[in-house]
Amino acid sequence: MTSKTLLRKVLQAVRAQHAHDATGHDLAHILRVRALALHIARQTPGCQLLVVELCALLHDVGDWKLGLGEAASWRLPGEWLKRFGAEPWLMARVTRACGEISFKGAGVKDAPSSLEAAMVQDADRLDALGAIGVGRAFAYGGAKGRPMHLPGVRPQLHQSFAAYQIKQGSTIHHFYEKLLLLKGRLHTRAARELAKPRHRFLEAFLAQFLSEWSAHV
Ligand code: ADP
Ligand code: NI
Repeated sequence: MTSKTLLRKVLQAVRAQHAHDATGHDLAHILRVRALALHIARQTPGCQLLVVELCALLHDVGDWKLGLGEAASWRLPGEWLKRFGAEPWLMARVTRACGEISFKGAGVKDAPSSLEAAMVQDADRLDALGAIGVGRAFAYGGAKGRPMHLPGVRPQLHQSFAAYQIKQGSTIHHFYEKLLLLKGRLHTRAARELAKPRHRFLEAFLAQFLSEWSAHV
């Protein structure tokens, strides 16, 4: 099977999986991550564009945040690639990378084991910053029934994935527990450049939000 046919089949399945998502993991997120990851990858010699593209398309199909259980992020991309006839080496590389993308807590070190996983992780993180990042955070918080803001409750820097997964708190907490930390955890120069204005936007948004909040209570 050609790469083009494989990519077409994967995109079709991904489209169906994310069609009704209202947590910020919709198809538009996946397509932005694909475009950003390929943009970063084209500036990096030695990486395999097919692995980058498949990983970008599949990185959220089994995300634990979608409620499919912890093992799903490892299992689903591989199951789909096998069903669509991908070669075993490709299946193994993409599946491994998909399991390495997600943020697992402020105190948990990122450990992408390949160049391709690092690039998709950077792309995924860029989409958690800027105006779209703000929109996605509140979409996720709303979908999970979280309050916007809980002043007086301190943010936590989670030291384990288990602690991060059961975290409570508000969407504003999430800015301190993840979003503002991302610019310091990017792997590529291209992503660091793209992150600068997006990070500044997060800071400006937070300052404005907190000032409006405290002015009227
Ligand atoms: P990751 O896999 O690194 O967590 P995703 O691509 O799955 O990243 O996207 C997570 C999105 O959901 C981000 O935009 C993030 O801001 C949002 N999100 C995740 N957890 C929370 C939370 N507890 N509160 C608010 N937003 C969240
Ligand atoms: Ni994602």
